Amino acid sequence: MDYEIVGLVLALLLWAAAWAVLAERRRRLQEELGRLPPGPQPWPVVGNLFQLVGAASAPHQSFAKLAKKHGPVMTLHLGSMTTVVISSSAAARVMFKNQDVVLAGRKIYESMKSEIGNDGSLITAQYGPRWRTLRRLCIAEFFSAAPLDAMRGVRAKCVDQMVQYMRDAAATGLGIDVGKFFFLMAFNLIGNLIFSKDLLDPESERGSKFFYHAGKATEFAGKPNVADFLPMLKWVDPQGIRRRTQFHVKRGFDIAGEFLKERMKEMEKGSFVEKKRRDYLDVLLEYQGDGVEEHTAFSSTTINIIVFEMFTAGTDTTTSTLEWAMAELLHNPHTLHKVQAELRTVIRPGKILEEDNLEHLPYLKAVIKETLRLHPPLPFLVPHMAMDSCKLLGFHIPQETQILVNVWAIGRDPKTWKDPLEFRPERFLDPDTADYKGHHFEFIPFGSGRRICPAVPLASRLLPLTLGSVLHAFDWVLADGLKPAEMDMRERMGITLRKALPVKAIPVPCV
Ligand code: HEM
Repeated sequence: MDYEIVGLVLALLLWAAAWAVLAERRRRLQEELGRLPPGPQPWPVVGNLFQLVGAASAPHQSFAKLAKKHGPVMTLHLGSMTTVVISSSAAARVMFKNQDVVLAGRKIYESMKSEIGNDGSLITAQYGPRWRTLRRLCIAEFFSAAPLDAMRGVRAKCVDQMVQYMRDAAATGLGIDVGKFFFLMAFNLIGNLIFSKDLLDPESERGSKFFYHAGKATEFAGKPNVADFLPMLKWVDPQGIRRRTQFHVKRGFDIAGEFLKERMKEMEKGSFVEKKRRDYLDVLLEYQGDGVEEHTAFSSTTINIIVFEMFTAGTDTTTSTLEWAMAELLHNPHTLHKVQAELRTVIRPGKILEEDNLEHLPYLKAVIKETLRLHPPLPFLVPHMAMDSCKLLGFHIPQETQILVNVWAIGRDPKTWKDPLEFRPERFLDPDTADYKGHHFEFIPFGSGRRICPAVPLASRLLPLTLGSVLHAFDWVLADGLKPAEMDMRERMGITLRKALPVKAIPVPCV
């Protein structure tokens, strides 16, 4: 009996010792890892979702408010999705300078998951060899100086066509939805760069169908989806967002696939030689691997995905920026007059704006920058993901954490920007002020580091060319007798940050 008691006591002591050792080990490990960045207290299962009810329409604003309380590196538990929000230029600098590679993964949302996979998508590719291949190819063939110079005429044609459509609409004397015209221009441009086709030609039924499905796919993909935060719901797809997004993606792919087949036939027959400019579809079809990381040609599915992605990445971002620029100019008529005066001084009477003029139009370029500061089309960039656990400013960031960089909040930070809420393009006139190439962390609307938008060189030509052309060709008056001060400047979050109410204005031809 005594032996049994001694045995029991010994066993208990051993168990207590083992427990103490394990607890100490866990404590040390936790200490070693550090703690997660601070944030609001989460609830079981739903995390901070309830605290964010109402934030769906403007999460960048809600997160900016929370960051004031919890700090520029803040943890939010969006259901099961651990999310770290970066809200200051100093924290963004440390992220991109010290942890760029490990935080260069992508968080993939449910709406983006398709049955045919995402092979070919640059935006959703995890950082690695496939991503490198796709990115190298699109930079070399689409966004570097030589192809951009070669495509100058295509840009001029698409902008000109848009001005012509506006001129036709101006004949009615009624207000037009300017964003729609910008969207059509951006879509038509990308169609021309990829397929050498005017997809919006009224004759092209397939073009307008493609336009419709690409627009719908981005609309649904931009909706907040509860299945992203509560994975047990992902099979149910309760709001039907994945189903509807993928329906339109599939229709878009079918149409892109038809263009592809036609081009392949033309190439086989050799009947395509008369076409002078090599377009992106040629590049993708000719590709046979890079001999380093890729050794085969692209499948037609991969090409479809690459093509579709260029439309979705390029149209909404461009439209959002141009529409906000017009909104801010109409809301601040003195800036509108100033930029028009600059255009009319530089461009000779009877001439249209050309890309060569842009270097003499600093105020126009400052208007674009000021618009991107206040209204970055992707206020959180494209969500990044930690590919491995790491340390950021002393905090522990677990693997698979979603990283959102609130560039909207950074662009309005009063510690960096004087009168941050005022639209004052003058602040960008000094050549020493920030540019958007990813080195000035107080102004990173295109991102920074490895995942920075590859289209910066295209956007920096296209945005001032388009805006300058419509400001040079027309005087602008707000529709329905609205006064500048009465304009509703609220935002609406979709796949990009758009103006909640479209800008309606009357173009009055002046050249
Ligand atoms: C106003 C114009 C634009 C803005 C503000 C913009 C902004 C951005 C941002 C913030 C990112 C994500 C950066 C990150 O994840 O850190 C991005 C990625 C990307 N953008 Fe743009 N963009 C614009 C125009 C375009 C255009 C015109 C195209 C193509 C025709 C394009 C193609 C892409 C692609 C393919 C990516 C993915 C890059 C990657 O994941 O490695 N963008 N863009």
